[in-house]
Amino acid sequence: MTQPKPRPTIAEMVRYQPNLRAPEADRIIRLSANEGAFGPSPKALQALNNQSGLLHWYPDEEPIELAEKLGEKYDLDPKKMIFGCGSDELIMAICQAYLDPGDEAVHTEYGFIMYPMSTKVAGGCPIAATDNNFRVDIDSILDRISSRTRIVFLANPNNPTGSYLSRTEVARLHSKLPSDVLFVIDAAYSEFVVRNDYSSGAELVDAAENVIMLRTFSKLYALAGLRLGWGYAKPHIIDALHVVKQPFGANRAAVAAAIAALDDQQFVDKAVEHNEKWRTWTASKFEKLGLLCLPSITNFLMVKFPNEKGKTANDAGSFLTSRGILTRGMSGYGAPDYLRLSIGTEDEMKIVLKNVTEFLEGA
Ligand SMILES: Cc1ncc(COP(=O)(O)O)c(C=O)c1O
Repeated sequence: MTQPKPRPTIAEMVRYQPNLRAPEADRIIRLSANEGAFGPSPKALQALNNQSGLLHWYPDEEPIELAEKLGEKYDLDPKKMIFGCGSDELIMAICQAYLDPGDEAVHTEYGFIMYPMSTKVAGGCPIAATDNNFRVDIDSILDRISSRTRIVFLANPNNPTGSYLSRTEVARLHSKLPSDVLFVIDAAYSEFVVRNDYSSGAELVDAAENVIMLRTFSKLYALAGLRLGWGYAKPHIIDALHVVKQPFGANRAAVAAAIAALDDQQFVDKAVEHNEKWRTWTASKFEKLGLLCLPSITNFLMVKFPNEKGKTANDAGSFLTSRGILTRGMSGYGAPDYLRLSIGTEDEMKIVLKNVTEFLEGA
């Protein structure tokens, strides 16, 4: 009997694999998805509870109060914002709105995997620009631009490497892009960044016609389970995305929690301070164990394991999983010698160190 068949591109693709399955263990330490270390702000939880009597109502088509709050907090124009079911939804909408079959979208070699995946789903052709020692290489991106290029994706800071381009470097890259290429600056981890030479890219949105900045409430604000991302771009881009994205992607519970989370500056300061302290601590302890950590300004580290039987990143990942600690293998990103792990609580990082030490000692 014949069966309905998906498009050949879809039939060939493997679904996104986040490694969030809980193994059997007394305690699960989940460091595989770059989530917030200690859950959301209590203010966000309260606001979420307050929505429980309203769940039979669709959310507002445009969460204007949230846009205004973001505008105040980050000095942005609320009219240039768009919201979605995670920034993942906006990445897909960008591909659907800007790619005709065969059009190209450039992404970086060790960049966020949803860029090539969404490009393919939309019928486009993902083109990888090689990195330079796990850092985005601007000239390599520029070398990949052709007459078919419609989109350039840049995660800044980058997932999974944790590295970043400075404000000046991003401006240089943008200045060399053709004006009909949409430049996507995905600043999902920007709220964690403590660097004077970094910018999330908002000023480029205001200055140019071909830039969109993406942000999310999944990381620093620790609301990943509610799925809320946002974009900042000129109205002609926002209008195009509204046509393709689902109308109610930003749900009412997420919007209410996000508004409250933005008011809790104490939570934000605590999360940033905690992250700086424990990322530095973890990297230095791992390096003492002989494990190289790529320099990171985010809430995760990409760690290299020896290419030695029993000691590989894959072995380490399995060992840690058996102890209830979830990390992310990097084979899917083409870096099988590495594991990526997020910065959790103090207690969790100490347990991770103990277990990695035991793994290396052959426990
Ligand atoms: C660079 C980057 N962009 C976007 C996302 C997706 O975020 P969201 O939860 O808002 O869909 C992630 C999630 O890991 C990410 O690392």
